[in-house]
Amino acid sequence: MRDSCARVVYGVVAVDFYFSAVRMAFKRALIFLGPPGAGKGTQSKRIAQSCAVPHLSTGDMLRDAVSRGTDLGRKVKPIMERGELVPDNLVMKMIEERLDRQDCTGGFVFDGFPRTLPQAEHLDRILDRKGFGKPIVVEFDVGPEKLLRRLTGRWTCSVGGEIYNVDDAPPKVAGICDHDGGKLIQRRDDRPEVVKDRLAAYERQTKPLTEYYRRQGVLDTIDASASMDEVSRALAKIVKCAQGCDGRL
Ligand code: AP5
Repeated sequence: MRDSCARVVYGVVAVDFYFSAVRMAFKRALIFLGPPGAGKGTQSKRIAQSCAVPHLSTGDMLRDAVSRGTDLGRKVKPIMERGELVPDNLVMKMIEERLDRQDCTGGFVFDGFPRTLPQAEHLDRILDRKGFGKPIVVEFDVGPEKLLRRLTGRWTCSVGGEIYNVDDAPPKVAGICDHDGGKLIQRRDDRPEVVKDRLAAYERQTKPLTEYYRRQGVLDTIDASASMDEVSRALAKIVKCAQGCDGRL
């Protein structure tokens, strides 16, 4: 247990040196739980880059399969367009194959996985088999109005996947990615009528995982309605704290 660590981090101390400490010692599975638009993708890209570990987004993997027109992509396209979750067996096979790759031996950041109890139980077994300790799990807490505003204002680079927002993180030139000049696109499942169903799926199928991980003593909750930098600092604090307290890293 991380007795000395706050379980709910709402006040954030402005201490940038946390990131350097995290960078030196990251070797765990980090799981981000949270509703659509909570900022999981934004923060996982940042922390994965800082810590030089893979960012494993099941949403990105599935969208890639759809855009390449693979068998998997053809199966999941209509499901994703309705805002429903893809069946567990398809997601678990995809993630298991990804975790077998060499770049995953030193730790990774999950974005959007696990999303159901069977996925979480399956992941526990994989982590155990691969000799990882308990994951670090962070719940992103954001109210529904802000989620809708973030999702309808989101634009994503069609080349590198960089995430922008017309209100909070606009590109320098409208419609063009600052990093690689790629065209910015809006996700089909960010239409308000689909967002409603995605939020419902989160409440019904994914939210119960917070209790699953709370019982294991590995869950922290952050106020993800704060600015992107404040959320990053809160996350860095949690990860550093988790590393220090169980002494495995
Ligand atoms: P997925 O791609 O995982 O989408 P999601 O979980 O719905 O999450 P989002 O990507 O919409 O939001 P996010 O939390 O990453 O927010 P972001 O950082 O982009 O899943 C899509 C679909 O794939 C699912 O519906 C399902 O069908 C399928 N799927 C995926 N995984 C699955 C699984 N494991 N099992 C079954 N099915 C699965 O930020 C949003 C916006 O807000 C951006 O514009 C960003 O710039 C802005 N923003 C972020 N943080 C802040 C901040 N702090 N302040 C202001 N603006 C911010």
